[in-house]
Amino acid sequence: MSFLPVEVIKKKRGGAELTDAEIERFIDGYTRGSIPDYQMSALLMAIFFQGMSHAETLTLTRAMLHSGKVVDLSSVPGFKVDKHSTGGVGDKTSLILGPIVAACGVAVPMISGRGLGHTGGTLDKLESIPGFNIHFSLEQFVRAVREHDICFIGQTPEICPADRKIYALRDVTATVESLPLICASILSKKLAEGIDGLVLDVKFGSGAFMKSAEKAEELALLLMDVARLYGKKVSALLTDMNQPLGRYAGNALEIQECVEIMKNQRHPLTEDTRELSLRLSADMLLLAGQGGTREGAYRIAEETLVSGRALAKFEELCRLHGGRLAELPRAKKSHPVPATQDGFIAAFDTEAVGYTGVLLRAGRARAEDPVDPVAGIEFHRRIGESVKKGETLFTVHGDDETPFPEATKRLQKAVTYSLQKISSPVLILKTLS
Ligand code: URA
Repeated sequence: MSFLPVEVIKKKRGGAELTDAEIERFIDGYTRGSIPDYQMSALLMAIFFQGMSHAETLTLTRAMLHSGKVVDLSSVPGFKVDKHSTGGVGDKTSLILGPIVAACGVAVPMISGRGLGHTGGTLDKLESIPGFNIHFSLEQFVRAVREHDICFIGQTPEICPADRKIYALRDVTATVESLPLICASILSKKLAEGIDGLVLDVKFGSGAFMKSAEKAEELALLLMDVARLYGKKVSALLTDMNQPLGRYAGNALEIQECVEIMKNQRHPLTEDTRELSLRLSADMLLLAGQGGTREGAYRIAEETLVSGRALAKFEELCRLHGGRLAELPRAKKSHPVPATQDGFIAAFDTEAVGYTGVLLRAGRARAEDPVDPVAGIEFHRRIGESVKKGETLFTVHGDDETPFPEATKRLQKAVTYSLQKISSPVLILKTLS
């Protein structure tokens, strides 16, 4: 029977459930170019308003996954596990948990992204290390995972071409914030890595995609259901992104923070990065069958970090990718941003903080924009802490001082004060497994 995209759009617009064949033919036609952007846009908007059943979401995920290659990791012995974060400001845990888990002998094949919008990306952080090359072929990637238990690369053209096209279209048609579309987009890419297990860090709050914990939990449960239907082991943490994570947001600055944590140089502002990295590592190890319980797996993760084995694995990873960690660059200029009043820090507009990073060129406004490896923001206070007018709340860093005055204004506007004491938010709200 002939396939008419307009009939599929009309069916979804009316709220009916699409068949597997309808979803598969639509995705295939769009990826090959026989279905134009305007029809895909209309279907995306219909899905945005009408939603999708779990069965439809599963089929959409499968169709997007099979629009490209699935990495064949059958030559890598043992369990293969990855982590996916829905994105945040200062979120650098992959750079710590990857080495921890790999140092425990569990393979971590990571296909990561770049920063876009207000959030940072793992590849940009790694590329701030001079010489660090993330452009491996899939064959080199598989060999590296087999030999080192860890490798970080970017999405290659063979992986999920449907997602690349659809994501770009969603970005400009106001259809990003749809749970089935987010779920299919995330899982198609993660499943293409050929993993056995996945730990999800689903963030909520002012710096996250999902502003409320309820919405984040809904997304986490959907992702877990679909991943399980795929036969994958999965767990999820719901984590707070109402304030930046850790001491720094900015590429080389975040590498520095991770290295300091792996060297056991403790600092009050990096305790949240350390704790979240350990909790996510523990879940990854538990999925891989290590530790017996969450507490047992956490102890293994912490021992691996404290013993220096995670740092040794990170240094091995840098050598594997040609990165010269000892030459990590530092900004030539920095500028303090003072508090504008006395009080307790009540809230951060974390998204605005992230966009200030973009202004400083630590992040990118458009996918093709370059980033400045040394630019970024240092944080000096957390929600609930007291501050006096004139004390430093942030420090902006970079080689170019031009954006510093505007960054100062934006950061000052991103802070809300309270005269009453405020309790600090809980970092990990819930674990779902
Ligand atoms: N991250 C993705 O990869 N896709 C989405 O749709 C949202 C976040």
